[in-house]
Amino acid sequence: MADQRSEYYASSENIRPDSMARIETKEQADKFIDEQVDALRKQIGDGKVLLALSGGVDSSVVAALLIKAVGKQLTCIHVNHGLMRKGESEMVVDVFKKQLGANLIYIDATDRFLDLLAGVAEPEKKRKIIGGEFIKVFDEEAAKIDGVGFLGQGTIYPDILESKDGIKAHHNVGGLPEDVKLELVEPLKLLFKDEVRVVGSALGLPDEMVNRQPFPGPGLGVRCTGAITRDRLEAVRESDAILREEFKNAGLDKKVWQYFTVVPDLKATGVKDGKRAFEWVCIIRAVNTTDAMTATIERIDWELLEKISYRITHEVKGINRCAYDITAKPTGTIEFE
Ligand code: XMP
Repeated sequence: MADQRSEYYASSENIRPDSMARIETKEQADKFIDEQVDALRKQIGDGKVLLALSGGVDSSVVAALLIKAVGKQLTCIHVNHGLMRKGESEMVVDVFKKQLGANLIYIDATDRFLDLLAGVAEPEKKRKIIGGEFIKVFDEEAAKIDGVGFLGQGTIYPDILESKDGIKAHHNVGGLPEDVKLELVEPLKLLFKDEVRVVGSALGLPDEMVNRQPFPGPGLGVRCTGAITRDRLEAVRESDAILREEFKNAGLDKKVWQYFTVVPDLKATGVKDGKRAFEWVCIIRAVNTTDAMTATIERIDWELLEKISYRITHEVKGINRCAYDITAKPTGTIEFE
């Protein structure tokens, strides 16, 4: 099946023409949107489309385009695996259901995922569980909807280039099943990431969504290293929220490529409220890169780092120590697992 996919992505309709101008302005984005809305209406007719909406840039822009083109013929499914960043699932519901009036099914599958992950420490096993369960939950929900003929996907041009070159299995939308019988709808498949962001802004999506930093499919699960526990996962989520808030206030959210916290299963001795406190260590990581193959460290201002460390150790339950990761890639990958 992977071979069939590679063949499909090698076909001429999936090759970006040399004459295609890079979308940089609102006018260019509006033109692209008009063309795609026409093309989507032609392709879909009065059919029904399904889309796994993760809240990432690509699936969000596809959702907004499809809503514009076919409105309620689209059903979006947002699976909250319990490994999302603070406020992210809420934002997906707010933007797509409340503001854009989408047909959105929101599934809180936190317990399913965390129960399956309990006691599993091996990173690849964790990833497999998360990917496999995602497909299961999505399939279960999709089976409840009658007469679906199309599957929307947030495939972008780098995905096509990489799957063609055999660099990686095409894994957009968290790895949906390869044997789906639905016709694919992939309006962004000839665009690069920066163009997708321009189109997203032109469609009126919030800045926070359009300029979202990269976030792995297995979510915070790879930043709560080893066997995930609910309390340590909460510590990852809360410390990440503080880091994001402080980076935004300092204007670093526009400058730094990716930044997050990791809370390994590691405790250290400390003092809190005059008493000995044996609690977790939180690691802060902030890196810059162009292609994620190599990365350098952001040299953060000491005062800001101290403020972030103070807030995390005083506001997040279970953390009494912070460290800043000064490892470039290589030797460290960007994520910890
Ligand atoms: P590493 O950790 O390999 O990460 O240096 C490079 C970039 O890829 C992201 N990443 C993932 N993205 N699914 C994804 O969609 C994944 O399983 C995954 N793992 C890592 C990582 O956040 C970084 O931007």
